[in-house]
Amino acid sequence: MARILPPTADSIAQAAAAIRAGRTVALPTETVYGLGADATSDTAVAAIFAAKQRPRFNPLIVHVPDIAAAQRHVEWTPLAQRLADAFWPGPLTLVLQRRPDCRLSLLVSAGLDTAALRVPRHPLAQSLLRAADLPIAAPSANRSGSISPTRPEHVVQSLGAAVDIVLDGGPCLIGVESTVIDARGTVPVLLRPGGITRADIVGVTSAMEDATHGGGGAKPSPGMLESHYAPSLPMRLNATAVNELEGLLAFGPAPLPGAGLTVNLSPSGDLTEAAANLFAAMRALDRPGLERIAVMPVPDTGLGEAINDRLRRAAAPR
Ligand code: TXA
Ligand code: MG
Repeated sequence: MARILPPTADSIAQAAAAIRAGRTVALPTETVYGLGADATSDTAVAAIFAAKQRPRFNPLIVHVPDIAAAQRHVEWTPLAQRLADAFWPGPLTLVLQRRPDCRLSLLVSAGLDTAALRVPRHPLAQSLLRAADLPIAAPSANRSGSISPTRPEHVVQSLGAAVDIVLDGGPCLIGVESTVIDARGTVPVLLRPGGITRADIVGVTSAMEDATHGGGGAKPSPGMLESHYAPSLPMRLNATAVNELEGLLAFGPAPLPGAGLTVNLSPSGDLTEAAANLFAAMRALDRPGLERIAVMPVPDTGLGEAINDRLRRAAAPR
């Protein structure tokens, strides 16, 4: 069974030793909990896929402590520099060309000639990266296809015996995964909306293209369009009425009346609060006795874009 370790120097040392020995460790980041392993080892990365029971090898995000560490693995660009200066450490992932001397496992790139890198802000993630002195590959610490964990107990519920150490960093402050940007060219291409908003990016680069709309010739991130993040109950979006057999994922000051159970993402209608609560709220509504989860509309501005992306994928045909 997984052990949840308190955020102490001793726990970080134990977790770093486990990473260096090729084992997996669940670590907190400011977005969601990740299931981490040595990104330079194919067998360690394979252990992540095994624990998540992923049906396919999707490319994984590699976490590094700072810009200098990122530059060792990929062909750095002026655009990457501008974005990293603005948003690292933080919830932004940059996809860049692998360097010829790149030591990252080929499995983290799942056969692509690019790698996705991120510098997390969470102090425990930073401490672990520095103690392990290795790049750490880490997708969200849940079984494939289920809801991303934003608290240590979610990791244990989802992965059980498949993970032995969970570092306890408390609830994740941001609550949705990082924004993934292809930064190989001169204009950023959005591969996955996330914790850094479109407006944040455009504020720094003055333009952005959407991979989904054919921008820059880039394909959307592998795995981006599938059913994902799904609770076991079916989901119904943009509900304007609800019945007692449905759980209601509400947003704002006027939750629809009549649901069997209601969880409000943000009674005040605050999108930052809603993002932080999103995955925990979907879990709370995923209850026997209910037939479906109905979701009230969430505005598509700011962090709403990432929230709606996750909701659409949770509602996609399975
Ligand atoms: O917030 C996050 O990003 C969390 C925490 C743990 O850091 N991590 C996370 O990792 O969500 P993961 O591995 O589940 O997300 C990988 C995303 C997918 O959309 C994947 O397709 C994309 O990044 N990705 C990874 N490498 C890529 C590459 N070389 N090219 C294009 N997309 C890539
Ligand atoms: Mg995930």
